Amino acid sequence: MQLNIKDTDESRQGESMVLEGRKDNNKKLFIESYGCQMNFSDSEIVASILLDNGYNTTSEMEEADLILVNTCAIRHKAEDTVRKRLTEYNALKKKNPQMKVGVLGCMAERLKTKLLEEEKIVDLVAGPDAYRDLPKLLEDVDDGRQAINVILSKEETYADLNPVRLGGNGVTAFVSITRGCDNMCTFCVVPFTRGRERSREPESIISECENLWENGYREVTLLGQNVDSYLWYGGGLKKDFSKATDEQKTNAVDFAELLDRVAMRVPGMRIRFSTSNPQDMHESVLRTMAKHNNICKSIHLPFQSGSTEVLKRMNRQHSREEYIALIDKIKQIIPNIALSHDIIAGFCGETEEEHRETLSLMEYVKYDFGYMFAYSERPGTPAHRKMADDVPEEVKKRRLQEIIDLQQIHSKERMNSYLGQTFEVLIEGNSKKNTNEWYGRTTQNTVMVFPKIQGTKPGDFVMVRADSCTSATLIGEMV
Ligand code: 5AD
Ligand code: SF4
Repeated sequence: MQLNIKDTDESRQGESMVLEGRKDNNKKLFIESYGCQMNFSDSEIVASILLDNGYNTTSEMEEADLILVNTCAIRHKAEDTVRKRLTEYNALKKKNPQMKVGVLGCMAERLKTKLLEEEKIVDLVAGPDAYRDLPKLLEDVDDGRQAINVILSKEETYADLNPVRLGGNGVTAFVSITRGCDNMCTFCVVPFTRGRERSREPESIISECENLWENGYREVTLLGQNVDSYLWYGGGLKKDFSKATDEQKTNAVDFAELLDRVAMRVPGMRIRFSTSNPQDMHESVLRTMAKHNNICKSIHLPFQSGSTEVLKRMNRQHSREEYIALIDKIKQIIPNIALSHDIIAGFCGETEEEHRETLSLMEYVKYDFGYMFAYSERPGTPAHRKMADDVPEEVKKRRLQEIIDLQQIHSKERMNSYLGQTFEVLIEGNSKKNTNEWYGRTTQNTVMVFPKIQGTKPGDFVMVRADSCTSATLIGEMV
């Protein structure tokens, strides 16, 4: 569940994923993903590339010919978890020396040759833009050559690849629309591990959504580090838009336009998106959300800190006041909106007063839920190079706990405010606790569980009245 996550990464961690294979494929891939939704989406691209190269997926690590781990580098703890896993893979490899172990994603990009040469715990290293090169890298391993590609690309969006859907529920799917990030928040390693921002060609996004619809999917989440800054003008980096021709500029597609097109072309499909950045979220996006019933009424809008001074040190492109003005506008244009956040506690130089500004901003907005983290210094980031990580660990922890406790109160308040109302819920599958109940979500992204009625199935939209709640789940009945 997304609520009350203590200094951890997002809700799915270390899941291995499997799909139906091809009969003539004789090798087995075990692929595991950590970190953000983007990594899970990327693993589907990787599985698709390897499916064409002789590999079916398996959920049994022991029987794998190839183990790949898609990694996250955003906080120290995320890397620690992956290191532990790599030790476990290597223990298996001792028993089966033919087995290959590879590291993908942000940690591969950050550490480059280190895991291969110094620590010797992997056979292969591929950064986020190098997945098309995996078949060649596997040959390099076989031929005893160093198997590494961590080149970041200006163009790669994997637009033409149709990702295979791994281990999902067959109802909801991720579709990536941008890669990389140009924001350079001083605490963040992402611009270094995922490179510069580029957008994917809109028609390829729409046809992926149409394809999902035809295969029974009923909800897509459009993914990017900064979706609101989506801009397609014919390929290339976002920062090079100024060099585009007049024709390219006239025909450019921004995020509001993309949302509008997806909503119209797949009208039965629910559409979500993540992540938004306050400085790029324009009114046109809000109006598009209000215009289309099938665009879900929830926005994940990280603010990191409620203090303008801290935001400046973080190189965020918004102040506290601008953020509040945006929240007011969102609530005015989409009154039934649910809001969520990311917050970092104890960033460099954060005073007690600055911390209280974060709490007071939370009080003002009253978010539905959020992801909350203690600041973790990342090597090579501007904060690491130029600022002291000077808030003591116990102070960071205490501040984080205060933030979590307050969010808990707000989440409960929000849940209580939903009681008695009837919501349209997309059924995603069985409730984890009780197979006689369905699990689904409202447009606001609130989880609802309710008794099954004959004739309903995953993928159906049903109306459910909320009768009671826990701090993160509405409990109801179909009406
Ligand atoms: N320390 C703690 N949290 C971080 N995040 C990004 N970098 C760091 C870091 N160095 C958080 C931010 C971001 C989310 C994905 O992870 O809140 O929005
Ligand atoms: Fe990191 Fe900031 Fe980009 Fe988000 S917007 S990925 S926090 S640099």
